Amino acid sequence: MTTSRGAAAGDDETGEERLRPVARADLLGVFRIEKAVFSQPWPYAAFEGLLDAPGFLVAEGDGWAANGTGVDAGDVLGYVVGDVTPNHGRDIGHIKDLAVRPDTQGRGLGRRLLRASLSELAAAGASAVKLEVRETNHRAQSLYADEGFRPARRIPRYYGDGEAAFVMRLDVGEWVRERNADGS
Ligand SMILES: CC(C)(COP(=O)(O)OP(=O)(O)OC[C@H]1O[C@@H](n2cnc3c(N)ncnc32)[C@H](O)[C@@H]1OP(=O)(O)O)[C@@H](O)C(=O)NCCC(=O)NCCS
Repeated sequence: MTTSRGAAAGDDETGEERLRPVARADLLGVFRIEKAVFSQPWPYAAFEGLLDAPGFLVAEGDGWAANGTGVDAGDVLGYVVGDVTPNHGRDIGHIKDLAVRPDTQGRGLGRRLLRASLSELAAAGASAVKLEVRETNHRAQSLYADEGFRPARRIPRYYGDGEAAFVMRLDVGEWVRERNADGS
């Protein structure tokens, strides 16, 4: 199956936020969230370098107020960065980053972003998708496990502060088939 970039994200407009491919103008908003949620944020230039990655999507607010906090139309509320590396006909997708603005977490946005990016990576030819997650990040691990990712290995001292990472892996072809069968 081939779809144009953003087709999967564009299909997902049932919630308050619109999911769409990132644009350069979003990067400051992306970077602001990155600094708010991670102790060792990526540098701005890392996002710039991935602007064309097929699974780099943002969730854009439409003026809805989260927990009493104003959300302006067009605000970046979350993002996911995913790309695909050729691998002898078994292309590997990689979810490199996922974050939701703290005042809009816990409302399903992280899961929607993850799903939309996985659909884009599958459409771009990935047969498997991997990611790294901090050993103590149980919240993210439970989201990934719930979507079908399984721990593949543990890498000691993966992060700059010495924490280990779990590498988790998903057969994204099977994930797409299951979602089509569910009609979800
Ligand atoms: C991880 C993160 C992206 C999830 O986004 P979110 O919008 O808050 O999550 P959702 O509302 O979509 O919830 C998805 C799932 O995450 C898990 N989850 C969410 N909040 C949780 C909590 N407080 N405790 C445990 N699990 C939780 C659950 O499995 C949940 O599914 P459920 O609501 O059906 O039970 C978000 O919390 C975040 O930005 N965290 C900081 C950055 C980060 O850790 N990114 C991941 C790096 S690998």
